[in-house]
Amino acid sequence: MDFDEIIDRRGTHSMKWDMMEPIYGVPAADGISMWVADMDFRPPACVGAAVQKMVDHGIYGYYGDEGAYRAAIGWWMHSRHGWQIEPDWIFTTHGLVNGTAMCVDAFTAPGDGVVLFTPVYHAFARVIRAAGRRVVECPLVLRDGRYEMDFAACDGLAEGARMVILCSPHNPGGRVWSRAELQGLADFAKRHDLILVSDEIHHDLVYPGQKHIVMDLVDPTLRERLVMLTATTKSFNIAGAHSGNVIIPDQALRARFAGRMAALGISANSFGIEMATTAYSPEGAEWIDALMVYLDGNRRLFDAGVNAIPGLASMPLEATYLAWVDFAGTGMTAAEFTARVEKGARIAANHGPTFGAGGECFLRFNIATSRARVAQAVERLQASFADLQ
Ligand SMILES: Cc1ncc(COP(=O)(O)O)c(C=O)c1O
Repeated sequence: MDFDEIIDRRGTHSMKWDMMEPIYGVPAADGISMWVADMDFRPPACVGAAVQKMVDHGIYGYYGDEGAYRAAIGWWMHSRHGWQIEPDWIFTTHGLVNGTAMCVDAFTAPGDGVVLFTPVYHAFARVIRAAGRRVVECPLVLRDGRYEMDFAACDGLAEGARMVILCSPHNPGGRVWSRAELQGLADFAKRHDLILVSDEIHHDLVYPGQKHIVMDLVDPTLRERLVMLTATTKSFNIAGAHSGNVIIPDQALRARFAGRMAALGISANSFGIEMATTAYSPEGAEWIDALMVYLDGNRRLFDAGVNAIPGLASMPLEATYLAWVDFAGTGMTAAEFTARVEKGARIAANHGPTFGAGGECFLRFNIATSRARVAQAVERLQASFADLQ
């Protein structure tokens, strides 16, 4: 668990590092990549060992008997999140963007509205629109420097919607939603007769002192409309395995989802299953605990350095390694502050508007990298905005 090790990912078909120059114009030679949400750390050793075992055996046939895999998911949800699930509630998709798309496909019809609290993870809107459904944007409200959901303001917007997708914890913005907020959302979904899809992919990446609450534990009457999304990929940095879990407690919803899975011929990839089975273990748990201590240090360093620049404000993260930085106080146009980050500081960060309304003055920085790199990024940002000091 040497999170300080600087691993050069360039030339490995890493989207984060090898697409930085083509997409952002930030030079591969000395740029710092802080966009795509994966980490510059190796996963726990047990995950690498599981893949190595497959390689040593050398035959990559179809996977059979998911008993151990489902048991590992059940153990993790119970021991880490206090959530008891049944093995047959679990469907394995090709990641959670695929899982979200499958939910949109299974539970809504073309033209239906899907509610998003924006700004939010950009792929939600992408798959909703690509499927011919409507994105209904409910703006998050900034209160005391953090996002809150304003259900009363969104009641008028939810007319004609069939689904709401929650990002919990929230990307970007890093909120760990409180029980009262989640209950508010449950009531909102019931009031408007919506299917509630709760994407909890960031649920293990919660900082000390914060407590993630599983949506299924908030309100027992929600189950007839609830779909839960979880994965090992974000927690253990194995996103390339493209594996995610759609967990559905309600039998009728499960039958509908199973029908669409069958119609599209979706079945799991053996690498994803082996990695997940191994990661959801005491060794994986120990690794996550150490990871969060390290990321906590990165978050403090990044926030202190960025907040020292007049006009910049990094939203306090309760979870995730994705720092959401507000540049509104600089009075600059988006083109100007983005150029200072990309051309001046030579850092690639996600552009705020990608996340929907409310993201106009923001950039999102991925701080899941070695401490030394975070320090270098902070120094470069301070230099690039030095005239504001
Ligand atoms: C909220 C959320 N859901 C899903 C994903 C991606 O999921 P996957 O890689 O399993 O498709 C991300 C990636 O950042 C995310 O932030």
